This record gives sequence, C-alpha cells and structure tokens, in this order.
Amino acid sequence: MSDFLELAAHRQSCRTFSGKQVEHDKLVKCIEAARLAPSGCNAQPWKFVVVEDPLVVPEVAKCTVQLGVNEYLAQAGAFIVVLEEHAKLMPKLAAMLDSQYFAKGDLGGAALSICLEAESLGLATCMAGLYDRPKLCQLLDLPPDQRFFLVIAVGYAVKDEVRPKIRKPLDEIVKFV
Ligand SMILES: Cc1cc2nc3c(=O)[nH]c(=O)nc-3n(C[C@H](O)[C@H](O)[C@H](O)COP(=O)(O)O)c2cc1C
Repeated sequence: MSDFLELAAHRQSCRTFSGKQVEHDKLVKCIEAARLAPSGCNAQPWKFVVVEDPLVVPEVAKCTVQLGVNEYLAQAGAFIVVLEEHAKLMPKLAAMLDSQYFAKGDLGGAALSICLEAESLGLATCMAGLYDRPKLCQLLDLPPDQRFFLVIAVGYAVKDEVRPKIRKPLDEIVKFV
C-alpha cells in the first residue's frame, strides 16, 4: 500500500486475532516507527515493553479483560505496552508548564505510528485503554508507580475485510479559513 490515506483507512481495531505469533523483526520495526514520532521539546517521554514470549502473551491478554470487553485479545500474537516516562522540557517551558503537558499527545502519536507500521507490515492491531495496571506491573517487572499510556495487541487477523469507518463528517470537524 503506497498511499497513506489508504493505509489509514485500512487500519482498524482487530477483534478477530488468529493466534499466530508475530515475527520479532516486525515488532522491532513497529518500535522503530514509534521512536521516530515527534514529541514536545523532543522529550520522547516513552518506553515500550514488547511482549512476545508465548508464555507471557496470554497473561498480558488476561490483564486487558475489563468491564466485559477485550476477551478477544486472547488470540493476539504479541502485545506492545506503551509506558509514559518523565518528559524533560526546555528550561523556559519547564518553568511555565507541567513536565507532562505534552506527554499524552506525544504518546498518542507514537502509539498510532506503531499501529500504522504494523498495518503496513500486514499485521493487525487493537489499542486497549482498559487494563489491570498493578497486575501488569507485577507481570512485566515494572515499578508499582510506573505510568502507563496504552496496551496495543498485535497479531494476524482472521477476517481481512475492512469495516466501513464510523466517523464524524468532515464539515463537522473542520473549518477552512
Ligand atoms: C485510547 C484508546 C483506547 C481503546 N481501548 C479499546 C479497548 O480497550 N478495547 C477495544 O476493543 N478497542 C479499544 N479501542 C479501539 C476503539 O474502539 C476504536 O479505535 C474506535 O472504535 C474506531 O474504530 P477503528 O479503530 O476500527 O477505526 C481504543 C482506542 C483508543 C484510541
């Protein structure tokens, strides 16, 4: 797929993973894409835990099952846990703003870069914003006060059909001046 809009339209949250393992080099490429994402003051307030060990993957999947959703992530081949780190801002900005002022936006960009790179490699993804943070900290040997941003399930989709996108119309979200 050479056209970016086509790639963006093709990416969708996968809820039918096949259980197939994900190649290590493809996961590295996803992290490389995240590493190249822009960030406020180039602070890069992120770290990633790539879970590919077939014994640990199902344990992470269990941690994402919350409020009756995400059972379907049990068939994901891998997970990328996106962690929020301290953002070191330029001194002038640091005097005015909280250190994490830009962090959520930075992390959102990095997370989407992961999903789009995965898509370009023929993988499917599903972002999971619901998860048991304390359990994940234990499982992944992270400090108990570690800040999380998102868990991304990665794998191969059973169904390849692209669902129609349900989105607000253009004229509702944009004003050209
Ligand atoms: C921050 C965030 C958290 C999300 N959490 C979940 C989740 O826990 N489970 C899930 O199935 N989808 C989750 N999604 C996927 C959204 O439901 C999905 O992106 C949205 O409905 C648009 O559909 P699409 O991704 O297929 O285009 C999440 C998406 C984002 C951006």
